[in-house]
Amino acid sequence: MFKTKRFGMFIHWGIYSVNKIHEQEMWRYGTSKEAYEEYARSFNPKNYNPHDWVKLAKDSGFDYITFTTKHHDGFCMWDTAYSDYKVTNTPYGKDVLKELADACHKEGIGLSLYYSVPDWHHNNYPNNIGHHEIERTDKDYAPNEALYIEYVKNQVKELVTNYGRIESFFWDIPPKTRDKSLNELIRSYQPHIYINNRGYDEGDFSTPERVSADGAVFEGLTEACDSVGAESWGYRESEDYHSMLYLTSAIDRYMAMGANYVLNAGPDSDGRICGQARKILEDVGAWYKNVKEALFATPVRYEWASKKAMVTTKSQNTLYIHLPPNPPSSGFFIKEAKVLPKSATILNNGKELNITWDKIPSLFDGNAGNLKQVLHIFGIPVDALASETIIIKLEFEKLDGAFEESSQSSDKRIL
Ligand code: GLC
Repeated sequence: MFKTKRFGMFIHWGIYSVNKIHEQEMWRYGTSKEAYEEYARSFNPKNYNPHDWVKLAKDSGFDYITFTTKHHDGFCMWDTAYSDYKVTNTPYGKDVLKELADACHKEGIGLSLYYSVPDWHHNNYPNNIGHHEIERTDKDYAPNEALYIEYVKNQVKELVTNYGRIESFFWDIPPKTRDKSLNELIRSYQPHIYINNRGYDEGDFSTPERVSADGAVFEGLTEACDSVGAESWGYRESEDYHSMLYLTSAIDRYMAMGANYVLNAGPDSDGRICGQARKILEDVGAWYKNVKEALFATPVRYEWASKKAMVTTKSQNTLYIHLPPNPPSSGFFIKEAKVLPKSATILNNGKELNITWDKIPSLFDGNAGNLKQVLHIFGIPVDALASETIIIKLEFEKLDGAFEESSQSSDKRIL
């Protein structure tokens, strides 16, 4: 994780897929507990085939899958001994997590687990009627934080002991009370594990969600997340899907600056990742595989690039120029270049690009004949590639000294 495994596929799957609205249907739409529990009685994903998910993940370049074991609805997607509200009590009857874990381990894809702290079903969940909490009126409701933490501990122990190696643990919605013993428990069974910052202590990594990268190199471990859909993480029939340009530029800007990225899709109640969601994962994956080397390179700041809203990364004598979304024209020049690169390639399609020393009319300073030669990179098919972030690879004999000294800086802000 974080060095080699950097691109994850988030999967939000639960009985909320039955009604096809939103994974937080109970909270946002006011569906009663009784009505919601009905979904468990019909959950029967006959076409669930974790090997298909894993193949899709692998084909699209993902290194790991993060799976929702229990979302805020409290429904458990594994055969827990501590609740009856679980997948093995649905018509489907099988432990979907076990099937997924086996497929991941067999096919060499990492497995990470998501677990929600808020629980809209458990009788002891200490409800504060805060964000992501529902007022409980059922007569069996008996809030008791100590008992709830005991329940969480028992469940988490099952999750980190019965499903093989777990790469990372993704708590959701930080509880008001801190309790270090939960992460300690996880670490005692999975010493290599990374734990996020939404749990009972600060954990190892931060989790910016559905926001743009702020232009600075990440100092601490970071895993950004977003979904193919703009509205929901779970399967939503009338979803508004993100554009390729939106997703590729988010992935680019996070990963180039050192963060991991997890992209979510919600399988339907039949167990399939299908339609537009699948297409987006495939298309993003095809782009990702072409440009991956630039995302794994080291961020570096050049003033000329930052001014043009370009991100730059480098690896030995190679410099990658990540163009801004919607580049204004099919070429650009670099006044500060001192040598001509050996080659320029568009990573997106592998095509060679034109590079030359050139006199650029807009650099005219009022003195005729005074135009200096500058490095000109041109002929980029910006319209043909308008739906994705474009990355140019420049190979130099020696990158050190290829640009004027003053143009490189150690500033943590790339943009
Ligand atoms: C938010 C949402 C939740 C989703 C999660 C993913 O916390 O409440 O529905 O699972 O983000 O990061």
